[in-house]
Amino acid sequence: MSAYVIGVGKTRFGPSSHPMPRLAHEAILGALTDADMSINDVGAVIVANFLGGPNESQLHLGSVVMGLFPGLHIPSWRVEAACASGGVAIHQAVTMLGAYDPILVVGVERLSGRPGAEQTRNIGMAGDVLLDQSQGLNFPATYALVAQRHMQRYGTRTRDFELISLKNHENARRNPLAHFHHKVVTQADIDAGATVAAPLRLFDCCPVSDGAAAAIISRGPRGGRGVPILGSAVGTDVISLAQRDDHTSFIAARVAAEEAYRQAGITAADVDLAEVHDCFTIAEIVAMEDLGLAAPGEAVDLIRDGQTALGGSMPVNVSGGLKAGGHAIGATGVGQVYEAVRQLRGEAGDRQVAGAGVAVTHNVGGVGGTCAVQVLGRP
Ligand code: COA
Repeated sequence: MSAYVIGVGKTRFGPSSHPMPRLAHEAILGALTDADMSINDVGAVIVANFLGGPNESQLHLGSVVMGLFPGLHIPSWRVEAACASGGVAIHQAVTMLGAYDPILVVGVERLSGRPGAEQTRNIGMAGDVLLDQSQGLNFPATYALVAQRHMQRYGTRTRDFELISLKNHENARRNPLAHFHHKVVTQADIDAGATVAAPLRLFDCCPVSDGAAAAIISRGPRGGRGVPILGSAVGTDVISLAQRDDHTSFIAARVAAEEAYRQAGITAADVDLAEVHDCFTIAEIVAMEDLGLAAPGEAVDLIRDGQTALGGSMPVNVSGGLKAGGHAIGATGVGQVYEAVRQLRGEAGDRQVAGAGVAVTHNVGGVGGTCAVQVLGRP
């Protein structure tokens, strides 16, 4: 079954005073306007969200979103796969087009404004509670462990993490919807950042963002402007790091990438830009290697050489990524597709990747427990 993204919308990611329904509404209206269609043309709605329950005391988000459109009674439900909720929801829409057409996917999250300890505990639900967190491995600590193992095995340096942070903050300056769009980040800022979980410091971490993103997925291109989804796959793995032999790579991502590339009939060499799940700077390195954009241990060569920057041979996270574009968890995977669509339609303004023909999105849940990969092509 063919699948196309026929409309996208997105709010700014970052602290917001708006409640979840208002954020979702803004993104949905953006996508409907982009597709030049009405909500009455939609066959079903999938809502991606992670922490609506613990943070907002609000679940049953399928119905919450339908509350924005009284009188409409189409199927609408929520999908949760931690930070991969958005990418998994896109995959679910692609695979359900035989039943409904088109399908509106909206990712939404409200995270900001809570005490840090509560926030860390809630986000930690994406990882393993029984084996990992009982040993003190909160979420930043799990990625710190991944960073330590990668450094040990491949000689990766903290300087590589800094280069990723500087690049993604610079990219966010070109993205008006990015969390840190207005913030100029210098080496001095990075040097002054507090240690969060060694070796990760403040500027190695994504922020805690609010926001929403929407995409309308259809069987047909609808007027020739639809962006084809050439491949869509989800991989999984055990949730606990204690149950894994290798912490320098996520098998869930490798499995998803292999299947998405197979469906698309491409190899990693055909990818023109990648939006990857850099919740911590080390995660961008792991993502590049899992996607086959670099051999294990060799992503740093591209990073040190400036090849992952805009204008380089393999631009990664031109939106600013999660690090500087923001991480509104349930919305993130849909936001990655928003960026890919804007790039492939040639509408990304001064962050446009010249000649973008194939984009890959990579959205991880937990510390590699789930990964959704989509491959998108030019309209
Ligand atoms: N990068 C850069 N600056 C950041 C930042 C980040 N990740 N997080 C916060 N800041 C800045 C804020 O903008 C603020 O700046 P200001 O004083 O100029 O306004 C300042 O740091 C303090 O913000 P605050 O919200 O009090 O930070 P914090 O210390 O409570 O939280 C982290 C910092 C890193 C702990 C938090 O952002 C975090 O938990 N990030 C990871 C989230 C996560 O794990 N997500 C899931 C991953 S899949």
